[in-house]
Amino acid sequence: MFDLTPDLTLPKPDLYADLASAAEGLTLGESDGVANMANIAALIWQWVPDLNWAGFYRLLGDELVLGPFCGKPACIRIALGKGVCGTAAASAASVLVPDVHAFPGHIACDAASASELVVPVIRDGQVIAVIDLDSPLTGRFDAQDQTGVELLARRIADRI
Ligand code: SME
Repeated sequence: MFDLTPDLTLPKPDLYADLASAAEGLTLGESDGVANMANIAALIWQWVPDLNWAGFYRLLGDELVLGPFCGKPACIRIALGKGVCGTAAASAASVLVPDVHAFPGHIACDAASASELVVPVIRDGQVIAVIDLDSPLTGRFDAQDQTGVELLARRIADRI
């Protein structure tokens, strides 16, 4: 059992630094990427409040394929360039969407989702996956969340 407990009273930059350290610690020495993504998704779920979905899509060929996550069952395959996830993967850049209903082409996996943050995971200069966070709250994510998840993505890029 891993008893990792976030201090949710921390300012966001500290909370995300703590999350990245927990993810690094929990995946240290484990070579199975699926196991590591599963544990990292569970950590995000614990560390980041007000989410209804958190997890990974892996870039396989020219499409994203669902990876480990917490939340309701989600769409399995997303073409590169489609939706928020496909846009982030295609551009190798984070996409922060304050209101998913205003994002053309947003793919609604869970009707409860109101805002979304997608961050690419880049290894050796290539996008290998994206981390996708959905919230039922409009405007849930800000620049500090984006910076925090980008830190996490850098720190776990060689663990998944
Ligand atoms: N909303 C995403 C699809 C994935 S789910 O949110 C889990 C998108 O538009 O790419």
